[in-house]
Amino acid sequence: MPTELSNEPRTPQHILVAVAWPYANGSLHLGHIAGAYLPADIFARYHRMAGNRVLMVSGSDTHGTPITVRAEREGRGPQDVVDQFHPEFLRYWQELGISFDLFTSTGTENHEQVTHDIFNRLSERGYIYRGVSQQFFDPQAGRFLPDRYVEGTCPNCGNESARGDQCDSCGRTLDPEDLIKPRSTITGATPEMRDTEHFFFKLSAFQEPLLAWLRSREGWRKHVRNFSIGFVEEGLHDRSITRDLEWGVKLPVEDLGPGKRIYVWFEAVIGYLSASKEWAATRGDPDAWRAWWEDAAARTYYFIGKDNIPFHTIIWPA
Ligand code: MF3
Ligand code: ZN
Repeated sequence: MPTELSNEPRTPQHILVAVAWPYANGSLHLGHIAGAYLPADIFARYHRMAGNRVLMVSGSDTHGTPITVRAEREGRGPQDVVDQFHPEFLRYWQELGISFDLFTSTGTENHEQVTHDIFNRLSERGYIYRGVSQQFFDPQAGRFLPDRYVEGTCPNCGNESARGDQCDSCGRTLDPEDLIKPRSTITGATPEMRDTEHFFFKLSAFQEPLLAWLRSREGWRKHVRNFSIGFVEEGLHDRSITRDLEWGVKLPVEDLGPGKRIYVWFEAVIGYLSASKEWAATRGDPDAWRAWWEDAAARTYYFIGKDNIPFHTIIWPA
C-alpha cells in the first residue's frame, strides 16, 4: 500500500525561474532555445503542476556594445536594432509555447529606476567610487573603445579574433587591454591608451564573504561551482561599471559629464529584480515580488549560457 502518497496539502514554495536576457541584436537559434529557454520552461511547468508558485521572468538585453556595434555597422540607430529583435523574441515564445510570466526588456523606465536605486544604495554604503582608468582610444575615430570595439589575440588561447569582452574560443572573460595586438573594430587602427573617468564597484570587498558563500552552495553544477571558486581565489578586483558610450542606462548622478552610461553587465542582471517588480505592478499588487526575493524559503534558479557564469555567480551575488 502506497502510504507515502497522500493528498495532504503542502505549503507551496516560491520558485523564481530567472532566464538569461538575450541581446536584442540578432535572431535566436536552436542553441539558445535548447540551452536555456526550453529547459527553463520545462522546469517552470513542472513546478506549476506540483502546486508551487512560479515566477518566470526574462527580457531583451537592449544595451551594450553588442547592440551598438551592429547598429553602427548597418548605419542605423541602436533602438532600431532593438525594435527589430525584441518583437521577434516575443513571437518565438508565443509560437514555441515558452511560458514566461513576463518577458520585458532593459529599455523600460522601471528598469532604469531599479538600476538607479541599486547604484545609489551601493554608493551610499561606499561600494561605488569614482576613479580614473586607462582605456583604449581610437585616434582615427576620435572615440574610446569599450568592450567589443576592440579585437585582438586572446592571451589565454591565442585565438586571433578574440573580442574585448570575451574570447569565444576558450570562453575566458576579458578586458580590452588584455588583448595582444589589439585593433579597433571601427577603423582597424591600433588603439592608444587615454585617461577616462568612471565609477567602480568595490568587488574586492566581497572576496571573503563570496568565497564562504560559494563554498556553501549545494545543488550547483560541479563545473559552475569550481569555476566560480577558482575565479574568486585568483583574487577579485574592483570593476568599472560605466562606459564611454551614448547608449545604455543613464547614470543617476551627473558627476562624470556627458557621454557615459552604465555598463551593460552591471544593469542587465538587475533585470531579474526589475522584471519581478514590473510583473507585480502590472497585476495590481506592487509588493507581490517580495515573496520571491525576500522570503528565505524561496528558491531562485538561473538558466544561463556558459559565458554568463561569472556575472551570475560572483558579480550579481556580490
Ligand atoms: N545578454 C547576455 C547574453 O546574451 C545575457 C545577459 S543575462 C542577464 O550573453 F541577466 F544579465 F541579463
Ligand atoms: Zn581564448
